[in-house]
This record gives sequence, structure tokens and C-alpha cells, in this order.
Amino acid sequence: MEKTFLMVKPDGVQRGLIGEVISRFERKGFKLAAGKLMVISDDLAKKHYGEHADKPFFGELVDFITSGPVFAMIWEGEDVVKTARHMMGATKPSEADLGTIRGDFGLTVGKNIIHGSDSLESAEREMALFFGESAALEYKKSSDEWVY
Ligand code: TYD
Ligand code: MG
Repeated sequence: MEKTFLMVKPDGVQRGLIGEVISRFERKGFKLAAGKLMVISDDLAKKHYGEHADKPFFGELVDFITSGPVFAMIWEGEDVVKTARHMMGATKPSEADLGTIRGDFGLTVGKNIIHGSDSLESAEREMALFFGESAALEYKKSSDEWVY
């Protein structure tokens, strides 16, 4: 089954939105496969956001994402990569639709509550970076038979 990497960013943790974020993905019907509260090292932040190394906001981005605990997760389900991006909303909260996580809770482009992998390749890379190769827990949820 498809998997993606999602992370409540430091602003979301500080604002008490871990439960809200988890709840949205649970209610949608996706399955939590891994989760941990952690502080990201400078090295991990630079690897994770490597595609943005040349952007003017890179320094600020790394400082922010390492500024306090994040809640890193792996979620599983059909088309979960694309669907999670829809549920997160656009990068800029001012452009994110209401009903999405960023549209409902975000205020600035930097502090936009949640990260989610943007493709299957990014998901594989980010899950390996944060959890290693075999961290996703395999288990049966009773709803598996009727949600999918
Ligand atoms: P990006 O990968 O473009 O967005 P997304 O998180 O939706 O995949 O950018 C990564 C993060 O960088 C974004 O969540 C917030 C931050 N960022 C800025 O601070 N300023 C910017 O102009 C952009 C585009 C992103
Ligand atoms: Mg991105």
C-alpha cells in the first residue's frame, strides 16, 4: 500500500495541533504506520530540504524547522501522497482553501503547520531520512476491509 511522510512543524506542535492533524488523517480513513516527536538536527534539516538549498528562504527554513520539536509520521493508504497534499492545502496559507489544514490554521508561508511529501519519490526519500528503511509498522485495522 502507498505510504507518505507527513510532519507537524514546530509551529503546529507549539499551537497544540498534533491531535487535530492526526485526527484529520484518521477520519479520512488513512492508517498511521509510524510517528515520533523529535527535534530535527541541522544536518537532517539540510538534507530534508536539499531541493531548496539555493533559495533565499533556505536559511530561515532550516532555522525554523530545527527550532523546536516536530511530530514526524508515516501514513498509509490508496493515493495517500496526493490526497495528503490536498488535505494540507497550498504552501501559502493565503492561497490555501478553507477546509485544508493550512487554510484553516496557517498564517504565514514559513509557519504553515505541516509538511507532506510531494511525490512517491520524495515520500521514499523522506521516510528513509526520518525513520530508516523498515520503520513503518505493518498491522491490520478492522476498518481495512470496508474503508478501501
Ligand atoms: P515548498 O516545498 O515549496 O512547499 P511545500 O511545503 O508546500 O512542499 O517549500 C518548503 C517550505 O519552505 C514551505 O512549506 C515553507 C517554506 N517556504 C518559505 O518560507 N518561503 C517561500 O517562498 C516558499 C516557496 C517556501
Ligand atoms: Mg515541498
